[in-house]
Amino acid sequence: MTSQDLRAVTWTAAAEGGAVPSLSLIDQTALPHALNRLDVTTVDELIDAIVRLVVRGAPAIGAAGGYGVALAMAQGEREGWDRARLDAEVARVRAARPTAVNLMVCVDRVAPLIDAGLPAVLAEADAIVREDLEANHAMGAFGADWLLKRVPAAAERPLRILTHCNTGALATAGWGTALGVIRELHGRARLETVYADETRPLLQGARLTAWELVQEGIPHFVQADGAAAGTILRGEVDAAIVGADRIAANGDTANKVGTVGIALACAHAGIPFVVAAPTTTVDLATATGSDIHIELRGEDEVLEWAGVRTAPAGSRGHNPAFDVTPGSLVTALVTERGVREVSAGELPVGGLS
Ligand code: MRU
Repeated sequence: MTSQDLRAVTWTAAAEGGAVPSLSLIDQTALPHALNRLDVTTVDELIDAIVRLVVRGAPAIGAAGGYGVALAMAQGEREGWDRARLDAEVARVRAARPTAVNLMVCVDRVAPLIDAGLPAVLAEADAIVREDLEANHAMGAFGADWLLKRVPAAAERPLRILTHCNTGALATAGWGTALGVIRELHGRARLETVYADETRPLLQGARLTAWELVQEGIPHFVQADGAAAGTILRGEVDAAIVGADRIAANGDTANKVGTVGIALACAHAGIPFVVAAPTTTVDLATATGSDIHIELRGEDEVLEWAGVRTAPAGSRGHNPAFDVTPGSLVTALVTERGVREVSAGELPVGGLS
């Protein structure tokens, strides 16, 4: 199996003989050392998995949220919940992480079908997964076409692309967003190498992106996040491409902490800074980036390393999981509908409603 075939989130129907239905998640906390699945059967287990980043990445969290409605219905059936309790449990799933709008969008898409019954809810959750997979393949082609057309070096040699965090099959229903574009370039033999930022503090780049790239033999370097700006300014990168957790109506883009520094370096170097995200990540109800709720995670994630304290006992930790890149720094937004260029004088989300 290549990482293209990975499915981070799958539903397992109730088996004969009493086994309850479950949501099967690739345990992303164990990668790259072990490829294990974690089967969750309750709302509490699902929320714990989302909070601990067993399942992570905006579209994958969205898919988990869609199936989370089904999981809550099945648990409610076993435990005799009334409708108010069921709605409250679904609301807890919806609020498990605050920044990626996909979680809210997917729960809100599936929850109205509760009255229609579990098969209808599951069909809608399945549709979310199917559509995300299709969107990712479309984005891959649009993004690769755009880069090959717009990056002058592409006329002479394969491209050197920088990415941040993990936006691959693990973070989505499959294939990936920004990493899908990178896969597509590799598939067309138009990719020289990838600079994969390690992505402090939880190392989604070093652990997950690098693992996906290794599965497919895609040449890459893992570099410290602090190396990214220098690598860009030295001219070693042709373009940066990242994913998004929420894109506000003015194009401001929340993504993994560290992203805005890459965008600033790209602007200084005059190379494209590209965001690839499905339209489910565009939140026209959020006016600007300052309206996006940025998840603040536990201090220990930055004060410790692998469970061992690295900062002095008197230090406090500041651990925002995301930052906001101003829309004016986004050269192009790739969605399943095509590419929007800021250089064409439009905000990247213009016309996406
Ligand atoms: O905290 P994470 O690992 O869920 O953060 C993930 C990111 O920031 C991704 O770049 C984003 O969700 C896009 S995934 C296609």
